[in-house]
Amino acid sequence: MQPQRKGILLAGGSGTRLHPLTQHTSKHLLPVGGRPMIHYPLATLIATGIREILLISTPRDLPAFQAKLGDGSQFDLHLHYAEQPRPEGIAQAFAIAAHCGFLTGAEPSALILGDNLFHGGPALKETLARAAARDEGATLFYLPVDTPSDYAILKLSDAGQPLALEEKPPAPASNYAIPGLYFYDAQAPALASTLKPSPRGELEITDLNRLYLTRGQLHTEALPPDTTWFDLGTHSALARANHFIIGSQTRRDDPKDSTRIAKASK
Ligand code: DAU
Repeated sequence: MQPQRKGILLAGGSGTRLHPLTQHTSKHLLPVGGRPMIHYPLATLIATGIREILLISTPRDLPAFQAKLGDGSQFDLHLHYAEQPRPEGIAQAFAIAAHCGFLTGAEPSALILGDNLFHGGPALKETLARAAARDEGATLFYLPVDTPSDYAILKLSDAGQPLALEEKPPAPASNYAIPGLYFYDAQAPALASTLKPSPRGELEITDLNRLYLTRGQLHTEALPPDTTWFDLGTHSALARANHFIIGSQTRRDDPKDSTRIAKASK
């Protein structure tokens, strides 16, 4: 029987684009819709059925996560913790997970970035469940964005097959961004260990994904059109996400909400 898929929640980095808010606290603990940001990616991993999760953060911030989330039993989870001493790249998560014994090389995994917020309905849940059920290769998601050069970009063939992946290209070949949620088979730690730092000095997740692409083992799935995705790396994204989440809570909770009434009366 295939071992259970394990989750990695990467919540380190320096958060410099959110200074001065993040000078003394992790950006992943900043409030979004009345909850700490980390709540959202954690809930996304949980929604895929994962119950064993490694949270990686900086030596400065890890104690705050441990104090807030504990061993995970309050959420019916097993939470483990590991430090990333320096922000040397997203793909370094696999070296850290292997080093602390969380990933042994036998189990599939899912990696989510601590500043990524996914909001959707049943179609999103089904899309994630399909990826989680796949034993072989890697699965990435894509969705159209207005500023593709801020993200990893996917180029597709006319038949919808993945052709190329590029990290923040100045002249993007498409407007399909790859959000920070990745499903991998058991090979990921071994493949990640072959990566070399990029010109900006990081072990790039896009380089790991490209290894799967060149092996013919990369699956790509469009996120359903009713999915809302935020990369919460900037003040503007944080403000928009707060507005969006609080708005959706109000619409759900308050029968007198004017948006709801306006929509219903159309
Ligand atoms: O949000 C999606 C994008 O995230 C992807 O499209 C890109 O391919 C991917 O590189 C990443 O780009 P960002 O510019 O948003 O990465 P950033 O450096 O902001 O880090 C994203 C999250 O990962 C953030 O929560 C901090 C954490 N992180 C990042 C690095 C580089 C770490 O914990 N350690 C690290 O070494």
